[in-house]
Amino acid sequence: MDLSPLQKARYEYSPKLPGMLRGGISEICVKEGEATSSVANQEQIKALFPNTYGKPEITFEKGSNTSAAKKQVVGVILSGGQAPGGHNVVCGLYDALKATDPENVLYGFKGGPSGLIEDDYLIFDDAYINMFRNTGGFDIIGSGRTKLETEEQFAIASEVCKKHGITAIVIIGGDDSNTNAAVLAEYFAAHNTGVQVIGCPKTIDGDLKNEDIECSFGFDTATKTYSELIGNIERDANSAKKYWHFIKVMGRSASHVALECALETQPNICLVGEEVAAKKMSLSAIADQIADSVEKRAANGNNFGVAIIPEGIVEFVPEFGALIAEINELLAGEKTEQFNALPTWQAKYAFIEAGLSKEAMAVFAILPEGIQQQLFLERDPHGNVQVSLIESEKLFSALVKDKLAERRKAGTYKGKFSPLHHFFGYEGRCAFPSNFDADYCYSLGYNAFMLIQYGYNGYLSKVSNLSKPADEWVAGGMPITKMMNMERRNGKDKPVIRKALVELDGAPFKYFAAHRDAWAVETAFTYPGAIQYFGPAEVCDLTTRTLALEKA
Ligand code: FBP
Repeated sequence: MDLSPLQKARYEYSPKLPGMLRGGISEICVKEGEATSSVANQEQIKALFPNTYGKPEITFEKGSNTSAAKKQVVGVILSGGQAPGGHNVVCGLYDALKATDPENVLYGFKGGPSGLIEDDYLIFDDAYINMFRNTGGFDIIGSGRTKLETEEQFAIASEVCKKHGITAIVIIGGDDSNTNAAVLAEYFAAHNTGVQVIGCPKTIDGDLKNEDIECSFGFDTATKTYSELIGNIERDANSAKKYWHFIKVMGRSASHVALECALETQPNICLVGEEVAAKKMSLSAIADQIADSVEKRAANGNNFGVAIIPEGIVEFVPEFGALIAEINELLAGEKTEQFNALPTWQAKYAFIEAGLSKEAMAVFAILPEGIQQQLFLERDPHGNVQVSLIESEKLFSALVKDKLAERRKAGTYKGKFSPLHHFFGYEGRCAFPSNFDADYCYSLGYNAFMLIQYGYNGYLSKVSNLSKPADEWVAGGMPITKMMNMERRNGKDKPVIRKALVELDGAPFKYFAAHRDAWAVETAFTYPGAIQYFGPAEVCDLTTRTLALEKA
């Protein structure tokens, strides 16, 4: 493999650990807090997790090691979408494990959770691990989206662990994967397998956070990467002064990524799905909000601008959700075949018009034809509309164009509107981790091993106080059951980690809301530039604006 100069230089970077972990196992002791209870539905969660519920929060401190000496054979799994820093979680875990006892072994199960079930693995050694230090990607062992959730899978997992003498599994994943980690931990405990399960909070979406977990890893680097690109586009827009850029950014559901990018780049518009849902905004109302900015800026001679659109936005628009539900119903069962057999789009349109309610049809009718067709033609194997494929950046620019045409007729708008479209997602998921993510991830992995060494099961590796320098970070663990509540999933009540949406009364949104009217009209762009790995700490170790505002 040819290495870029940056990759070579990053191999030399030593990730920073929280102060209390720096002396290694001989100088790490544990402090147990109060017993915990789940965030809601305590009785139900307790009944479902009799062996792992109610355990205490734990914090590591500097002091004499009291853990029992034991050979550890640990298996690690990467689960779900890539997030910068995943490699460093594995490196931190490996280093802690080997520093504690060179005889300890680390298995990497390949291709995500399915690797454990299929017993597809590699065993890490120094030469292999060193190739991945401080690099982006999950290619160290690969990732996958198979869910570990059935008793049958757990029984196989248990056999695989027994075969290799595995004492603990570390699952690096998002809310769903860590929910499954908690269920697996309970299974292992109930069946006296002696295998522990520890989770690590990963996702660029930033929606695995709560009062215990300050942020998921990868969010910092991904949003910095998107913000660099958005800032560059803003500067281009301000130079050429002729385009409106509609930029969709990843984030399956919550709008944390879009909001963070807006805080970093101060665009003219940033939509926030959670606000759209709270205010029950229609597509037309959203388009009007953007058109207002276009019109006001045009009146000042500025026929350019930047709008950030979160990937998950359309799911938050109530009337759009209702339309999707009707479309799914309209094409249920054999009606799909009937629809597909219609020879022309006109014939299909007539079928749709006859099948949708008046309200749903009113929403459908204002969509650009490309989006209308996308809703009916590209569906998942269950026949459902694939909301994530909807090109919402094009949808909103088309709706704004219509609004501007009306305003031109009414004489209120005299500008020019030339939209360009972008989607930033995969560009940010495997970037070289920022110093923050490199340090945070290494600490999460190192800390995960300390939880294993001290015998904890069903815990999430927790590193907090993250808005402070790394030596002030606090390392410990939180029982995953503490973060759980019951939610309706696929027609059943399930215990799950609650997904964190953008809080409209939280500091990041409030800051945005206080400034956005000015940003909509002025050219207040800020240009964050590329992530810096070498240089002054105030540039290189900068946390996200979201974290800084939340912890201010
Ligand atoms: P995770 O929740 O697994 O971390 O993945 C998040 C994400 O990157 C979303 O932002 C995006 O919508 C989705 O994954 C894309 O999934 P895929 O990689 O399967 O295309």
